[in-house]
Amino acid sequence: MMFKVWFVAVLLTVFATIFCSGNVTPAQQCPGESFEGLQDRIQVTPCGKSRCNLVKNTNVTVNMKFTVVDKTDTMTNEVYAYIGGAPVPFLGVDGTDACQHVKRAASDEYVACPLAPGDYEYTNVFPVLPVYPTLSTKVHWSLKAGKKSLICFEVPAAITAGSKH
Ligand SMILES: *[C@@H]1O[C@H](CO)[C@@H](O)[C@H](O)[C@H]1NC(C)=O
Repeated sequence: MMFKVWFVAVLLTVFATIFCSGNVTPAQQCPGESFEGLQDRIQVTPCGKSRCNLVKNTNVTVNMKFTVVDKTDTMTNEVYAYIGGAPVPFLGVDGTDACQHVKRAASDEYVACPLAPGDYEYTNVFPVLPVYPTLSTKVHWSLKAGKKSLICFEVPAAITAGSKH
């Protein structure tokens, strides 16, 4: 039994490595920002080469590697989509506490705010709700410490209906 579990875990890891290693998210800099190596820091799964397809009733994983330079007491998600040129916040995600989704990059341990200077990795899974409008848009995602962005990206995205059951 233990062996089976272990074997399945290894298989999953191998598959995850094969399928995710080619996943380059077409992340763009946010207006007025310039994060070094942005494309290597951002991963949205699933995502295509030119845009992310957000299919209703599925989950999307967002992974961001970022660096804290000055001790940060709080960190919040700033997430919105541009609709008709105007930013429309993602309800349920925008403005929420981002600290609970953060691991230390070196040790893979979850940490809590305040964050000391260092390298961190943020992972969040969120559902594409059926109430979202079906459209092409651009999603903006930032981790904010006060007014400052610790990391920020924008990505072209299409919200699609997916298959009906
Ligand atoms: C999405 O994630 C939630 C919470 O982890 C889980 O309960 C749900 O089954 C997932 N949905 C799909 C379609 O994977």
